[in-house]
Amino acid sequence: MDHFQLRNGELFAEDVPLARIAEEVGTPVYVYSRATLERHAQVFRDGLAAIPRKHIAFAVKSNPNLAVLRVLGRQGYGADVVSGGEMRRALAAGIPAKDIVFSGVGKTARELADALDAEIGQFNIESEEEGLELARIAAERGKRAACALRVNPDIDAGTHEKISTGKADNKFGVPFDLATGIYARLAELPGMNMRGLAVHIGSQLSDLKPLELAFEKVGTLLGQLRSAGHRVTHVDLGGGLGVPYKAGDVLPSPAEYGAMVARVTQGWDVELMFEPGRVIAGNAGVLLTRVIRVKRNGNRTPFMVVDAAMNDLARPALYGAWHDFDAVRPSGERMTAHIVGPICETGDTFARDRNCDALADGDLAVFRTAGAYGATMASSYNSRGFVAEVLVDGDRFAVVADRILPEEIYAAERVPEWLD
Ligand code: LLP
Repeated sequence: MDHFQLRNGELFAEDVPLARIAEEVGTPVYVYSRATLERHAQVFRDGLAAIPRKHIAFAVKSNPNLAVLRVLGRQGYGADVVSGGEMRRALAAGIPAKDIVFSGVGKTARELADALDAEIGQFNIESEEEGLELARIAAERGKRAACALRVNPDIDAGTHEKISTGKADNKFGVPFDLATGIYARLAELPGMNMRGLAVHIGSQLSDLKPLELAFEKVGTLLGQLRSAGHRVTHVDLGGGLGVPYKAGDVLPSPAEYGAMVARVTQGWDVELMFEPGRVIAGNAGVLLTRVIRVKRNGNRTPFMVVDAAMNDLARPALYGAWHDFDAVRPSGERMTAHIVGPICETGDTFARDRNCDALADGDLAVFRTAGAYGATMASSYNSRGFVAEVLVDGDRFAVVADRILPEEIYAAERVPEWLD
């Protein structure tokens, strides 16, 4: 459920007509709904009601906007970060350091040191090498880093290969058969507080079975580690729950996910950690765009050229992803069009042969389910700048990220004097 609904034939974000936002802020613009974010945060937490000890860390990569992080922080969510930049954002948004989990396969020595200095809650270690480096940096500071070892369960998540992370040939986590040895060696280091395991097999999962298999494997490993005398007090089950992108898509609900987790983890006696991103933010945002012009092309399928492009919303170009495309003021008529952006490559296509609301030059429309992996994946390709972001709250809204103009981007560039 989201709060982008038609009222009297016009699409609103909560109580604000999207047309008003387009007029005041311009297009393209990302629009987020606070009520939807809060609802999703609540529904996800409710789904885990049967889990006695838990920590939910929002995957910052999915939507790192400071205002979005603030909304979720106020819901009691921590942050799952994968870079120093994300860590600083989470802190800037007011998320307590102790609620931050640092994941990611390539944390640099600088990032590890900064995270230790910031006293974040947990590091999810991706390799023995990383663990050794972190232990050394922590020992130098007289600290002990709270760590979980990320394991690679070698399970096919059944999602797009570019967002699958739990197969043996993916770069993530340590091979399952090596995990006990690595855990044991790292646990002995003075700079380390090895306290748990972490797993994340992929994103936009539409089936709970691969998650269940992965969690069961983690449970087996947990038992082995304990039998070997190791302390395991935390298990991070990652993110990955998919969301409906197409009207009619049916995905496992947070309640079904929670019931599966409760069943599989029964008796583990640990604090369970979660890193949801898309399921919280995905349907809480739309990308509002204006039709530049409809290119009729004789009697071929028309190209609907909109002012948003692959640099603003990369998912269709990158993964062939589907985003519903709806008029802000639907006339009731339909048309079939290729929906494309202005960028100079054919990959800048949002949809081919899409049956959509009939639109004419200057009309407004939205790409739905753009609240996760939307603005955060933007680039300035074709010198298009970065799109503004707006947060709606009831009948008010605020620009929560300014539009960044190409001039502001090239202000950071220099032409050396020896080119004169
Ligand atoms: N934890 C870890 C370690 C992750 O790598 C990810 C996502 C998450 C949590 C959050 O997963 P979620 O709950 O959002 O599925 N750009 C792609 C998605 C990449 C996901 C990367 N990792 C897309 O647009 O579909």
